[in-house]
Amino acid sequence: MAYQYSSTDNPNLHSGSTTPYGSGDPYYNESSGFVAPHQSKPKRGMSNWIKIGVPVLIAIIIAAVLGGVLGSRAHHNSSASSNAVANQASPTGAAAASSAASVKEAIGLFATATNSLYMLPIYPSTTNTAAFTKPTFEPQASGLSWPSDPFQPANPAPTSVRPDHPRLIAPSYKWEALPELIQKDPYLKYWNDTIFGNATVYYNEPVVAYYMDSGNGILDIARQIKMRIKAFSYVYRMTNNTKWVDRAWKELQNAAGNGTNSFGPDTSERWNPVHFLDTAELTAAYAIAYDWMYDAWMPDQKSMIVWTMSYYGLQNGVIGYSNSNGMYYGWWTSNTQGNWNCVCNGGLTMGALAIMGDDDTGLAEQVLQLTIPNAMLNCAQAVSSDGTWQETPNYWYFGVTGNAEMISSLMTAAGSDFGMLTTNPGFANTGLFHMHVTGPGTMFEWGDNGVNLYSTTANPMMFYGEQYNHPEYMLFQRDQHDAPSDPWSMFWYNPAVSGAFWDNMALDGYFDNHTDSWASMRSSWTDEDALFLAIKAGTLQGHQTHNDLDCGDFVLDALGTRWAGELGDENYLVTGYFSNDSQTSDRWLYYRKRTEGQNTILVDAQNQLVTAQPTTNFGSSNTTQGSSTVFAVPSDSTAFFTADLTSAYESVTSFERGVRMLNGRKQVLLQDDITASASIMWRMHTNASVEIDTAGTTATLQIGNERMEVKILSPTSGATFTTMNATRLPTDPPLPAGQADLPNTGVTVLAIELEAGTHSLQVLFNPQWSDMSASDFVTPPSVAVKDWTLTSHNN
Ligand SMILES: *[C@@H]1O[C@H](CO)[C@@H](O)[C@H](O)[C@H]1NC(C)=O
Ligand SMILES: *[C@@H]1O[C@H](CO)[C@@H](O)[C@H](O)[C@H]1NC(C)=O
Ligand SMILES: *[C@@H]1O[C@H](CO)[C@@H](O)[C@H](O)[C@H]1NC(C)=O
Ligand SMILES: *[C@@H]1O[C@H](CO)[C@@H](O)[C@H](O)[C@H]1NC(C)=O
Ligand SMILES: *[C@@H]1O[C@H](CO)[C@@H](O)[C@H](O)[C@H]1NC(C)=O
Ligand SMILES: *[C@@H]1O[C@H](CO)[C@@H](O)[C@H](O)[C@H]1NC(C)=O
Ligand SMILES: *[C@@H]1O[C@H](CO)[C@@H](O)[C@H](O)[C@H]1NC(C)=O
Ligand SMILES: *[C@@H]1O[C@H](CO)[C@@H](O)[C@H](O)[C@H]1NC(C)=O
Ligand SMILES: *[C@@H]1O[C@H](CO)[C@@H](O)[C@H](O)[C@H]1NC(C)=O
Repeated sequence: MAYQYSSTDNPNLHSGSTTPYGSGDPYYNESSGFVAPHQSKPKRGMSNWIKIGVPVLIAIIIAAVLGGVLGSRAHHNSSASSNAVANQASPTGAAAASSAASVKEAIGLFATATNSLYMLPIYPSTTNTAAFTKPTFEPQASGLSWPSDPFQPANPAPTSVRPDHPRLIAPSYKWEALPELIQKDPYLKYWNDTIFGNATVYYNEPVVAYYMDSGNGILDIARQIKMRIKAFSYVYRMTNNTKWVDRAWKELQNAAGNGTNSFGPDTSERWNPVHFLDTAELTAAYAIAYDWMYDAWMPDQKSMIVWTMSYYGLQNGVIGYSNSNGMYYGWWTSNTQGNWNCVCNGGLTMGALAIMGDDDTGLAEQVLQLTIPNAMLNCAQAVSSDGTWQETPNYWYFGVTGNAEMISSLMTAAGSDFGMLTTNPGFANTGLFHMHVTGPGTMFEWGDNGVNLYSTTANPMMFYGEQYNHPEYMLFQRDQHDAPSDPWSMFWYNPAVSGAFWDNMALDGYFDNHTDSWASMRSSWTDEDALFLAIKAGTLQGHQTHNDLDCGDFVLDALGTRWAGELGDENYLVTGYFSNDSQTSDRWLYYRKRTEGQNTILVDAQNQLVTAQPTTNFGSSNTTQGSSTVFAVPSDSTAFFTADLTSAYESVTSFERGVRMLNGRKQVLLQDDITASASIMWRMHTNASVEIDTAGTTATLQIGNERMEVKILSPTSGATFTTMNATRLPTDPPLPAGQADLPNTGVTVLAIELEAGTHSLQVLFNPQWSDMSASDFVTPPSVAVKDWTLTSHNN
């Protein structure tokens, strides 16, 4: 069973008896599918990448003539001999561009497969100084680029749309150029093939069956319909075969309640506007169908589409904006700097743009007057100044999909973004946020996560890469498993992009806005076995009630697996889950949201204070990866993050947590300098099996064949490891009546308990790298966290 997108994350629908849904089964619910993400995540085999793996490998061998293949996979421990090849002088300017273009064709896709567990790209252990160069756009020499848009209005206005269809995201000049670009660009070719394949699968399936989920409304099916419509419309335009139009029509009729099966109530609430995401996604689906297949629809079909979308979609949007039914449809129009605002405004905007000129009621104009200014104040502000998505790294997917669809549609339909790209300068950094929050053991998924994506991907990385001139965003995304799964990639990708995202990319990222102050550090961008450490210490309010009480929480990856990880969502339907983010909120009664459910320090077995105002500091050697996928970390390369967490606790007079890379990024030190007047517990959640030595000071963690040693360096006596179940503590306040925590099956808490007082708790993590012997590991000196510098731990 797949895991579920939420979204009773609507505070107004949760506060009382007005909820339109049944309260549902508060426990694991087979029919609504609320299960822990890591329990339900299908173990996927090698993806479709592998099918093309063989031809790609052949291409790599060809490319190797130009560069140098190093034999083994890109491993943390690969030899420094790679540097000899990596350091060869690279050509520059036009010569580089033309050689990059031909090498690109010879190589094909850079990634050879996706990791079967985490679905991240696997790169060959090769250097290729002609291709793995600085990220750039090189249109002139490569001959691979889009023509410029002939529609360049002098005074753009949202209601003055381009004269022809399609106008959403992919105008006709792009469709005309696409077939030739597909022939020349291996990524476009691969994605085109995949979209055709997916469309064929959907073609042969029955229409998406209506299903009202108690927590999720009709969001999943709305997104499935949108996903299908995108694929059908794409294939129609690429083939001119109207069988795709006919198939799309069946889907549209079904969603209008005109098919053979019923679809929702026979009222204007057919698209479930009380859960407006559902309405917005169906409106977007209709918009794409109408616009992309415009030339194929009969006049009566056109008017039926316009009527249906206006009646069930746009009109309810206007009702939501007017608050005329007590905020029921439109709670997301105020104070909602998150994914809801982006998805709802995005869908309405696409719908309005699609029918502009064919709608004689003025509804389309009215909608655009509402959505654009509102999205400027909400959706566009959903990232903080450093690019971090303020809900969670997972909700970034929904938010940026809504944002990019809306802006891209405005740009193509009306010739301008109307300021949405630039009103919040932080948005330009959101691609960097996504890259740094992604580790080899998947994302640092703090807060709520793990919901069904369907028509949502990280492909906005390509759109932002182009708009903000960050070619590395585009290069990063094009190798991801979700790049081929929607047609936006075909139009947001610029085939003039060249280079490798990792070339000259800093290994560390520090995102210092207080809302989510966090950092990540790694030993490589291209090694699936790399060391990756990420930690956060932001404020605990202002995250659309999607966060945890998690100041100081960290994740740790090494040897191809995650050693310290997140638990994710609680069941979204449990009582009070989205009530509010004040200290007394029922949300903070659930284990996965409580401080004890995080990888941080627990004091007096109490939750952290929601008023916490942590301050953070960061240092990095600023090491960057070079051109090679095989990166030998210099021995003095390091990074650290420290946070003053005193304000997060009632019974603490001082507390600094610090974490750092040691020994050329092969080991990690985690240190807590704390003075507390109540009991202290260090906690870490792991999927590993844990063995503790007789002294109690070394824990050996094992996952598969890989091992990690965790050692208590300080205090030298009185501190020992214990293991606990990842379940609520006996002293916790009771859950609301009839509620329970989701089980955290397979997860062990590694814990250290200390009495009240002053301590410097120092814990060393030694991943058991195959090429390191015991004597290769360092034992760092003891340095107070407040005195940490880049060199404070040099031996
Ligand atoms: C797109 O993919 C389909 C299915 O593989 C293929 O038939 C078609 O030729 C491709 N389009 C182009 C322009 O190559
Ligand atoms: C699209 O096709 C690819 C390749 O066959 C497959 O891996 C993927 O699951 C399909 N996506 C969907 C949404 O069906
Ligand atoms: C589809 O029709 C358009 C417009 O007439 C034309 O430019 C295009 O070449 C056709 N595509 C195919 C695959 O026949
Ligand atoms: C569905 O049927 C209704 C009522 O006949 C009609 O108004 C509407 O346009 C139809 N919509 C579609 C997409 O078939
Ligand atoms: C943090 O980001 C918010 C926008 O979300 C901004 O208003 C604030 O000024 C930023 N703070 C700093 C210190 O940059
Ligand atoms: C356990 O493994 C799953 C699947 O990789 C992962 O999503 C989860 O975060 C891990 N849990 C912990 C506590 O590391
Ligand atoms: C927050 O929600 C809880 C129930 O979860 C309620 O008791 C409390 O009054 C609410 N606080 C605010 C400020 O709304
Ligand atoms: C790393 O870069 C930061 C930000 O530019 C700078 O403040 C710092 O001094 C640099 N550190 C080193 C060791 O170069
Ligand atoms: C942990 O949970 C298991 C399974 O429910 C139980 O057998 C075991 O006693 C628990 N351990 C502790 C320390 O509570």
